Amino acid sequence: MSVVSIKPDIYWVGVNDRTTDLFEGIWPIENVGVSYNSYLINDEKKAIIDLSKAMKTDDYFSQISQIMDIKKLDYLIVNHMEPDHTGVLRTLIKMVPDIKILGTKKCKEMMADFYQITTNFQVVEDGETLKLGKRTLQFVYTPFVHWPETMVTYEVSTKTLFSCDAFGGYGALTGTIFDDQCDNMNFYEAQSLRYYSNIVSTFAGPVKKAIKKLNGIEVDTICPSHGLVWRKDPGRIVDLYSTWSDWGSTGGELGVTLVYGSMYGNTEQVMNAVAHGVSEENVPMEIFDCARTHTSYILPSMLKRKGVILGAPTYEVACFPPVRNLVKMALEKRVNNKDVAMFGSYGWSGGALKELKSIIGDKWNWIKDFCFPGGPTDEVLEKAAAFGRNFAKELKKKF
Ligand code: FEO
Repeated sequence: MSVVSIKPDIYWVGVNDRTTDLFEGIWPIENVGVSYNSYLINDEKKAIIDLSKAMKTDDYFSQISQIMDIKKLDYLIVNHMEPDHTGVLRTLIKMVPDIKILGTKKCKEMMADFYQITTNFQVVEDGETLKLGKRTLQFVYTPFVHWPETMVTYEVSTKTLFSCDAFGGYGALTGTIFDDQCDNMNFYEAQSLRYYSNIVSTFAGPVKKAIKKLNGIEVDTICPSHGLVWRKDPGRIVDLYSTWSDWGSTGGELGVTLVYGSMYGNTEQVMNAVAHGVSEENVPMEIFDCARTHTSYILPSMLKRKGVILGAPTYEVACFPPVRNLVKMALEKRVNNKDVAMFGSYGWSGGALKELKSIIGDKWNWIKDFCFPGGPTDEVLEKAAAFGRNFAKELKKKF
């Protein structure tokens, strides 16, 4: 993409990434991509806010050159040190050796660790301002959204918030950077939720604190470092992030995520009966085959829906590994306060139930479970339907 003017003197100069398969080396984005949004302020003093992952470096710097002589850059504002926003840092410094780098004290430490860059770094304090000319930047600390060094930058005269990871999402930009020109907002909102549940939800508490802190600032446009620029309705993405961070503590909305794995189809057969029982109670539900669906796609549903039903056969006297791994990741991502039930087939001994109970402990509210030997009989299938129905009934009482 080429440079996009956002406001007088303020430009998008980011990188649209459609070739990375795994974000952070874990999370699949091969079908949707992601953008690394970088912003240039071309005032009397010239500042660039966040950079890009180390890719398409020529394209990235040539965009800046379309606006100004890159050697005349005065400041680099590092809202967040993670390499998806600093990957071209060493190259930039070779081009502009005297550029002054601004960030938090923690950012300075991390920059030394990641890049061994220690010179020309100026620590900014929470609330400090920097006058560029017509434009004035204010720095607001937002630690742990996403790493400890993170801050956001607010341009006072245009009421523009450069929020880095906060309010960002997966999804390469498709011709426009702006929400008001985008004809597929459902896609970006869904990809923002997947990004939030994969990357940010561990830090739901800091997200809430940041939103509360930023509440006193009048914001006209939100410019995150991933995904769309929100100029038509910046409140929309703030509301979404606020709701998602609440789900981490409330357990979410009425609904069930039914996750199962099955070696030979026995647990799957019972899963269908359990699902039928849930459906009879008209409770919203999403079903995932855990062995065939990346955790990335299951976490949004688990974060959103209060109920979790796990279908896991016993595997070598323990839990079917894909279900075990999913539950562990969900707990790490602070998918909290769930009502949970479990069912599954076993061969010669149980083990899945015991292991899941040990992993989950008192972090989720254990409602019920049943395990059955081998393949399901008619009696087991009837029991499974009642199990699903009763779980859904119990869940509905809470809403
Ligand atoms: Fe987009 Fe936490 O980096």
